[in-house]
Amino acid sequence: MSTVYRVGIIGCGSISHLHMKGYLGEERFKVVALSDPVAEARQDFGDRYGIEKRYTDAREMMDREGLDVVSICTWHKLHAPLTIAACARRPKAILCEKPMAVNMGECDEMMIAARRNDVKLAIAHQRRFNPVWTDARNLIAEGAIGDVRHVHCSGSQGLLNDCSHMFDFMRYVMSDPAPEWVLGNIERKTDRYERDIRIEDRSAGIVGFDNGAVGQLLQELHPERRQGGYLYGSDGMMDVNEQRVLLINSKSGGWEERPSTGEDPSVGQAVELADWIEGKSEHRGEASNGRAAVEIIMGIYESARLHEVVQMPVRTHSSPIEEMIEAGDLPVERPGRYDIRAFLLRGESMQGENLGENSDEMPGENDEEG
Ligand SMILES: NC(=O)c1ccc[n+]([C@@H]2O[C@H](COP(=O)([O-])OP(=O)(O)OC[C@H]3O[C@@H](n4cnc5c(N)ncnc54)[C@H](O)[C@@H]3O)[C@@H](O)[C@H]2O)c1
Repeated sequence: MSTVYRVGIIGCGSISHLHMKGYLGEERFKVVALSDPVAEARQDFGDRYGIEKRYTDAREMMDREGLDVVSICTWHKLHAPLTIAACARRPKAILCEKPMAVNMGECDEMMIAARRNDVKLAIAHQRRFNPVWTDARNLIAEGAIGDVRHVHCSGSQGLLNDCSHMFDFMRYVMSDPAPEWVLGNIERKTDRYERDIRIEDRSAGIVGFDNGAVGQLLQELHPERRQGGYLYGSDGMMDVNEQRVLLINSKSGGWEERPSTGEDPSVGQAVELADWIEGKSEHRGEASNGRAAVEIIMGIYESARLHEVVQMPVRTHSSPIEEMIEAGDLPVERPGRYDIRAFLLRGESMQGENLGENSDEMPGENDEEG
């Protein structure tokens, strides 16, 4: 019988269910503990999956449970501090949600912490395990559309949220080229937040990759919402979403539809994590890929801040959009803070501003479990 790795989950909200699905789908994992400062979240998740060990404090869970794997499923601002805290306890691996972090400084600190503690760190861009995206990647690698010249994606909810998946999409399907330069701009006329980080109302970014392809992303500028995009090459075109690839090239004689083979991305992500721990494979969500998606995004913000084409690497360690807001360069013309993810909060809160580490004082939360 193979080793069973002990898993602890930090943050029991919406995405934690996908992590759980992955671990339930791979017998080498057993989720033994959870942590969340919100009593309702602990109870819902713990009861649903029969997890007895429940903590309000993630560090206490990690100190007591001897975990092999830690899943970090909190909002973005806690990804870096909790990853660094987890690294210090030296589990075998950490699976941290996307976006990897909210600026380049944090991404780098997470990678330093992982390296110096010999911890495998993966970022959960789980669509790398979607069979459709992998089919697109393999087709492109085989030359099905020739040399990729242009990739187009559309998204919403700010660059760091679902658009981080799209920059990851661009890289993944083209076998992970490095971004070389970025040009972009943003509009922020309202005080818009997403999971407690300040985001733009609208944005556009263009990224040049070292394979010669140019990627374009429109955020809140186009009605189409999908995970995937359009790729144009020297010998064909591909239209990719999560369900199928549509392919046309000089040999296909029309559009070829290639449906999903149905494998679950969350399970694939977990299986490869176990293989990675055991030295049987690399992990396609390895942290440098999560970092690359954040770097393109920070490059767009930096381009908007400096009014220039940003050459990689991005050398500003803080978030350029935060710098612009703090410097008064992005004045809000229609005041009033709102968070487009306020619906995720529990209790009376409408803002995530108190959603911090080790919070026993969740807004609207009356936690009597200590
Ligand atoms: N990969 C994907 O497709 C995908 C999809 C959805 C969300 N996400 C990512 O997952 C992350 C979480 O989003 P969500 O939608 O699950 O949010 P959520 O609000 O539903 O869940 C977050 C949970 O974290 C808990 N929490 C807050 N502080 C904590 C702490 N210090 N320790 C432990 N738990 C704490 C909250 O109480 C809450 O239950 C985000 O970064 C988001 O980008 C990824």
